[in-house]
Amino acid sequence: MDKKVVLITGACGQLGRALCTAYNNAGATVIATDTHATAQNLPAGVHYSAMDVTNKEDVLHCFSTVADAHGALDVLINNAGVSCFESFEERPESSIDWVMNVNLKGTLLCIQTYVNLFDEKKYAQGSIVNIASMYGIISPDPCIYTDCPRKNSEIYGATKAGVIQMTRYFAVHLASRHIRVNAVSPGGILNPENPQGTDFQKNYAARCPMGRMALQEEITGGVLFLSSPAASYITGHNLVIDGGMSCW
Ligand SMILES: NC(=O)c1ccc[n+]([C@@H]2O[C@H](COP(=O)([O-])OP(=O)(O)OC[C@H]3O[C@@H](n4cnc5c(N)ncnc54)[C@H](O)[C@@H]3O)[C@@H](O)[C@H]2O)c1
Repeated sequence: MDKKVVLITGACGQLGRALCTAYNNAGATVIATDTHATAQNLPAGVHYSAMDVTNKEDVLHCFSTVADAHGALDVLINNAGVSCFESFEERPESSIDWVMNVNLKGTLLCIQTYVNLFDEKKYAQGSIVNIASMYGIISPDPCIYTDCPRKNSEIYGATKAGVIQMTRYFAVHLASRHIRVNAVSPGGILNPENPQGTDFQKNYAARCPMGRMALQEEITGGVLFLSSPAASYITGHNLVIDGGMSCW
């Protein structure tokens, strides 16, 4: 990824920061973006630009500033994603709108802006990786959630299924422009800074063939691979990284 310009959305969160570190270590020029006015806990050497993926003006401004400043935009990682955790019966309309806006509309706006910029600047080739989720292909097992009020929501899974489908759509429609589009669907990622409950971890481990949650570094490798020249003939793929959880 040496000298490749990589834009990552939702970059101040757990996976976003790990992706910034991975691309930084791989020699890329990393443009981290998130809703915060200033960068939060990002590795040294990473550039930061505030961008709300649901706001088209913000997205247009950020992408064109990056392209002007760095002369290229080789890779787009659509990582920004949110979920809501009320019970389904009590879910307010605002939660449904929020999750759909960030996960689906945000991903779509970033892809649209990337493609238009690509045409305008006549870039030769590009790559997009959308971060979906294992819960875009299987339902969460309710038995896992015994020690926390947070349940994995139906709207989250529905939007992630949408992201996987959008990946296939754009893989087909952008292939002639030499833009590859792939998805990575992680299973549950252990958060060392804000660990999930011990019951949850235990239940998850019991349900997962590999007997544990993922480490964030076990997800970033797949994203790096799909965006790199090593995956030059791979497009429309959804790489599930879940320790075998979705196999049964
Ligand atoms: N953590 C997991 O176990 C897990 C599992 C599967 C998939 N994922 C997916 O991985 C991605 C990253 O998740 P994470 O665990 O790092 O979550 P996180 O909550 O730590 O980070 C998400 C980041 O997205 C940012 N964000 C929210 N709304 C935004 C907006 N409108 N515009 C721009 N940025 C916005 C947040 O500020 C935050 O920094 C998400 O798409 C998530 O659905 C995570």
